[in-house]
Amino acid sequence: MNGAKPDQIFEDESRLQLNDDGNLRHLLTLKGLDRSLLVEILGDAENYLTPTGGLPARSNALTGRTVANLFFEPSTRTRASFDLAGKRLGADVLNLDVNTSSRKKGESILDTIYTLEAMRCDIMVVRDASAGVPAYIARHVKDHVSILNAGESDVSHPTQGLLDLLTIRRHKGSFEKLVVAIVGDIRHSRVAKSTGWGLHTLGVGELRLISPPSMAPDPDEMPFARICDDLDDGLADADVVMALRIQRERISDLEGIPGTEEYFSSFGVSHERMKLARPDAIVMHPGPMNRGIEIEGSLADSGQSVITEQVANGVAVRMAVLDRVAKSLEGH
Ligand code: CP
Repeated sequence: MNGAKPDQIFEDESRLQLNDDGNLRHLLTLKGLDRSLLVEILGDAENYLTPTGGLPARSNALTGRTVANLFFEPSTRTRASFDLAGKRLGADVLNLDVNTSSRKKGESILDTIYTLEAMRCDIMVVRDASAGVPAYIARHVKDHVSILNAGESDVSHPTQGLLDLLTIRRHKGSFEKLVVAIVGDIRHSRVAKSTGWGLHTLGVGELRLISPPSMAPDPDEMPFARICDDLDDGLADADVVMALRIQRERISDLEGIPGTEEYFSSFGVSHERMKLARPDAIVMHPGPMNRGIEIEGSLADSGQSVITEQVANGVAVRMAVLDRVAKSLEGH
């Protein structure tokens, strides 16, 4: 079940995530999500950013609702930020420990979902290594339940895409004239796909996907992007540079994957390499980072880096998404 999905499936998922009024009921993919809805979510997220020197934003928008975090793959940022986002909106938050759950005794994912549904969990945040799981669950839940995709195989990570878009917009304003370079293991990255489609929907000037040939995407997956295997060429005059981790957990045959030193020398984003980009270019990374492999450690900690802002924006984006889907559940 791993791997890219045909366009028809994406169209079905894109429709499935909206209710009859066109409001967001589930968040499954950014591919095909309407530009105006994308812009509205980013606007909502701005209102949930922590003010400088202030305490984190809070509201009672989710009082009485229960959010369940179901992470069947490891996570630090996404899981912690959904936990904080739910609590800051007044929800009860359940973090299911999947390693001690009854899935270890062979319970199916749907039976786990039906069990939590019966306990009146309303919003289920799901990360899974298999493609199609969030949409599969969304097709089976009751009217009071919303499903949020928190990372699906190498296919989709919509809230990461949204937080990347918010971070870029806060630094660069509009997208139309921007050159965005995403560098690294594009083929196995769900982040590259969600951020890439979000950038396309918002009208980015140019999207470059830079990787060794063994990590290049299928050209049909993001047909609007320029695929490139030369880092110097790809970074020239870029406004935004995002480095990606090699997703070793999704690569069954490591043959053709460069060793660490060779990789950093050819595809590592470093101070030296960033001289090719625009002087005001920002450096991004979705995390977790492997310093010295895909990014120079001191660059990640430098003034050019917006990596910790991405993390902070992730809480605001997840608050905005939780608030929006909770509104679509009103009356249930
Ligand atoms: N970017 C991201 O998804 O990080 P985590 O795996 O730590 O959630």
